[in-house]
Amino acid sequence: CSPPLVTSCLRIYGPQLNDCPEDIDMRVVLVGFGGREAALAWRMVKSEKLTSLTVTGDNPGWPAEAVVVHASTPDEWISLAREVRADLVVVGPEAPLAAGAADALVAAGFPTFGPTREAARLESSKAFAKEIMLATGVDTAAALVVDRSDPQSVASARARCARGQVVVKADGLAAGKGVFVCRTATEAEEALEAVWSGRFGESSDRLVLEDLLEGPEVSLFAICDGERIVMLPSAQDHKQLGDGGVGPMTGGMGAYAPCPLIDREAGDELGEHIHLPVIRELARRGHPFRGLLYAGLMITEDGPKVLEFNVRFGDPECQPLMMLWGDDLLDWLYGAAIGQLPAGQPRFIEGSACCVVLASAGYPLSSDKGQPIPEPVESDGVVVFHSGTRRDDSGVLRTNGGRVLGITAQGSTLDEARSLAYAALPALIFPGSQHRSDIAAQAGT
Ligand code: GLY
Repeated sequence: CSPPLVTSCLRIYGPQLNDCPEDIDMRVVLVGFGGREAALAWRMVKSEKLTSLTVTGDNPGWPAEAVVVHASTPDEWISLAREVRADLVVVGPEAPLAAGAADALVAAGFPTFGPTREAARLESSKAFAKEIMLATGVDTAAALVVDRSDPQSVASARARCARGQVVVKADGLAAGKGVFVCRTATEAEEALEAVWSGRFGESSDRLVLEDLLEGPEVSLFAICDGERIVMLPSAQDHKQLGDGGVGPMTGGMGAYAPCPLIDREAGDELGEHIHLPVIRELARRGHPFRGLLYAGLMITEDGPKVLEFNVRFGDPECQPLMMLWGDDLLDWLYGAAIGQLPAGQPRFIEGSACCVVLASAGYPLSSDKGQPIPEPVESDGVVVFHSGTRRDDSGVLRTNGGRVLGITAQGSTLDEARSLAYAALPALIFPGSQHRSDIAAQAGT
């Protein structure tokens, strides 16, 4: 039987435009092939509107309905979209968006879920994100933008670092590795040198120095059509490798939703003060944002402050959110892509969802590839999303990246979802695998 649905979970802000067509058949191309895209595909194939789903890379966990056609550049995505006569292209990861994939696809006539290169600068330039936050009054940490080629700017940076309690951020995309939390002056100086060493390529010349804030982090997503937004339930990621939040930063070792720190009403209100002014400012500058706007928040003693923006679903936060999605996902992605979010509100399954990541030995510094993985078996309330896996020539599933599997469960309570995910985990352990045992254990802290 179907799970119960919350019918009034979300609000839409801004003027209501036309509804998304009810009877449209959708041929969808999905760019990206990690855990986030596996979760999006899993939810998409539940849509009655879906007539075909073409995915552009290998993921042994794709749903059976997905057809793989290898394509890895905007020109190849456009050719593929033409070939399958795509009604919608969904771009999952940030790198193609920052490189202008959505611009190219839209120019070729394909409705695309994912912002243009200029709008994607919210994620691809920390300095740009700060500029937009300043222009819109979004609450964030005080910051200094530092240009390495300007001696005065460098002198200000060194003076700020001497006081410690600072976060050093490479300006551009750095695969989650360009952020250094520095409590002491020495750590801050080392972080400056690390960024300026050139290890982040184009991201190395400019950086942002930000006052260090303290508090729990929450991820708050909105689907945006350029003018309006719908808020999704809050989620909480666990970014450090070890239990209790110790060890190196990772892409995310597990996540759950919703997060009790931001309930529905609080999320709606934050959307009005964060996501909505930001997309309005981008629209005013001629760059309407159509896609997913992710605000990374810190809940400080002085209230929520924005740490960063991302321009795509969080990974692994997307996995629990897709398990809770109780509506036709394509209505919302397509509505955002064509600039006309549907009237009404998407529904979410009542309860909670929890995702626990199994990672390779060596992650996040390296990843031990080629280890055999037990074959996941789907069980009630649990879905195993694949990230870094591949099948070898004899059909054996093997590790092929840092984060390998996202064991994701849905339950009527967070405790139940968490227990289901952890109960499924032992059967999937592979040589050298790493996981946290405290995902969602301290929910809301
Ligand atoms: N979970 C963190 C991110 O997607 O950036």
